[in-house]
Parts: sequence; C-alpha cells; structure tokens
Amino acid sequence: MLGMKVGLDLGSSAITAYVAGKGIVLCEANAICYDANSGDVLAVGSEALAMLSRTPETVSLVQPMRGGVISDFSVQCEIMTALLQRVCHNAVLRPNLIISVPSGLTKLERRTILDAAAVCGAARVSVLDAPIASALGAGIPIEEPRGVLVIDIGAGTCDIAAITMGTVAFCRSIPIAGDDFDETICQYLRQKRGVEIGLPTAQRLKHQIGCAAPREEEFEAAANGKDTIRQMPLQFFVTSTELCEAIAPRIDAIAQAVLGVLEDVPAELFADICETGIVLCGGSSALYGLDAALCEKLRLPVRVAPDGAHCAAKGAGYALKDIDRLEDDGYLFRLKERNKT
Ligand SMILES: Nc1ncnc2c1ncn2[C@@H]1O[C@H](COP(=O)(O)OP(=O)(O)OP(=O)(O)O)[C@@H](O)[C@H]1O
Ligand SMILES: [Mg+2]
Repeated sequence: MLGMKVGLDLGSSAITAYVAGKGIVLCEANAICYDANSGDVLAVGSEALAMLSRTPETVSLVQPMRGGVISDFSVQCEIMTALLQRVCHNAVLRPNLIISVPSGLTKLERRTILDAAAVCGAARVSVLDAPIASALGAGIPIEEPRGVLVIDIGAGTCDIAAITMGTVAFCRSIPIAGDDFDETICQYLRQKRGVEIGLPTAQRLKHQIGCAAPREEEFEAAANGKDTIRQMPLQFFVTSTELCEAIAPRIDAIAQAVLGVLEDVPAELFADICETGIVLCGGSSALYGLDAALCEKLRLPVRVAPDGAHCAAKGAGYALKDIDRLEDDGYLFRLKERNKT
C-alpha cells in the first residue's frame, strides 16, 4: 500500500494521530474557536482552548464531542479535516487512514466521518471501534480465541469491552471518566471545604496529586478558588487524601459497571479474563492507583497499558496493515468507487 499510513483517534477531549514509522505526530484538543461576530474560524485544536481564556467575549468555543457522543457533526468534521491537513500537508501520495471512533456511532454517522476524511484526500479510509483500536494499541493479541477485558477510560466515557477473536463480544459504555472526575473534585471542595474552583483547576490538581488509591506518602498542592460564603478570592491547599476521597464514588461506579459486563460474559470467556486479567488504557488510566483500586474491588489482576492515552491512535495505525480484512468485515468504504455511484 503506497502513501502515508495514519491512525487517528477521535476522542472527546483530544484528537491524536499516529503515523507508521514516525509514532504519535499530533495530539490536539478536539475544539474549535469562531469569532462570535463574523463566524470566522480563529483557531483549531489546543490553540482554540488557549484562545478562549484570553478573549472570552469575542470568541465562541465549540467542543463537538462530549461523553463519546458527537453533538455537531459538521463542526466535528471541520476540526478533523483541519487537523488531518496538518498531519498530511507535505505528503506526496494520498494518505491511508483508519479512524478510531466511539463504539456507539450509527452507520450514518460513520459514513459522515468517512466522507470528511475523503475531503482531506484520503486514498483509503476505514473506521474502527475504539475498544478494538485501544486493545491493538495496548499490544493485546486480540485475534486469539482467548477473551480479554479492556477498559478505556478517557475524558468523556469509560468503555468496558470483552474482546475475543478480533471482535467485541460484550461492551458497556458509561459517562464516567476524566471530565466527571474533575466535576466530582469541584463538588467535593464546595461541600467539604466551602471553596469554589473551576474545572481546569480541578484537572490540574487531579494530574498533580490525584489518586484512586491512597498514596504511600501524602502530597498537597496549592489552588486558587473563591470562598463560597464570603465570595472572596482564596488560596488554599488540597491533599491527595482529599482527592482520593472525592474520586472514590466514581471508581466504585466504574467497578460496578465492570461487574455488570462480567455477569453477562459466558463462563469460558470469564475464565479467560480471570487468567489474563484486565487491561486499562485511555488518558485517565494514568490516574495514580487506579489499577490497585480496581484490582481490590474486582478481585482480578488489573494492569495499565504503557502510554495508555495513545493506545487508540496507535492501534488504528497498526490496523492499517489489515485494512483489506476490515473491508471484508464491512468496515471499509472504497471512496473512489462509492463516489461514482
Ligand atoms: N496523569 C493523569 N492523571 C489523571 N488523569 C489524567 C492524567 N493524564 C490525563 N488524564 C485525563 O485523561 C483524560 C483524557 O484522556 P483521553 O485522551 O484518552 O480522552 P479522549 O479519548 O479524548 O476521550 P473519550 O475516549 O472519553 O472520548 C482527561 O480527562 C485527562 O484529565
Ligand atoms: Mg478515547
């Protein structure tokens, strides 16, 4: 197959591109900024998020995917097209593309994504369900007749998928992931400490000292907020133990959803999962102690995939060598032929 081989992960918070032979070449916010008056595009990707904090009145920010659901397809395709052009701008031959998409998308929605890729000049393009892409990117041999359980915890969704012989046998998606952890931290600090903080501050605290299981040593971090009673600005310190307590109910909810999937899988598949364990991927798999917390609640071995945030993009890239097989499975649309009809 000639031309650049690109694996693209379309996520709620980020769009990530993997190029065969180069690795991860792009990871940008899934966001776009328009001029509120003229409607002109001002920035796409991470620059769009940064722009909002500088001139909020004149800028309107759109993040078209929340919780794994694309609310505005034309905006989503506009962002994808702009970012793909950044990846492929100096390619001589037309690129070949596999796009990892949320498993809940309809056939029509998948076609819309494929059409947007065609606008970018893709030679061959296919979509792949995110749990399969993540499993491939995590290095799991998914085609063996042996079941594995992959949990992809991103920003908007937690996808729990039991995979065997290259297909998703059972899957459950819940809207409890990184964005929800941030909201939970805000709520906790409002109720327990009487301080109001913004979501970006909650995310920073989560990245710096957040944890799903107690840390060996307690850490603390400073934050700026607003006193909810006096409505005055306030600088305060938060501990890792507090963040662990804040996030704990959400980890319980994820464990309950995993148990729900395990109840559904047949005994043989269940036995395989008990033996091979559970693999965590997605950006939120980097939350300290998540593997230990889930291992304790589920009583099953749990491990975090290396470079979890990029598993889906890498896996989509790896799948390009099998693009003909995806075509047989009905995933692939030959754009040239389809455009003729
Ligand atoms: N060190 C960290 N600790 C905790 N959370 C983290 C860490 N690093 C990244 N995250 C979280 O990972 C999330 C982003 O993950 P990812 O890029 O996999 O999401 P996505 O693919 O865009 O979303 P989705 O798959 O839900 O559509 C964010 O919520 C971010 O806060
Ligand atoms: Mg994702």
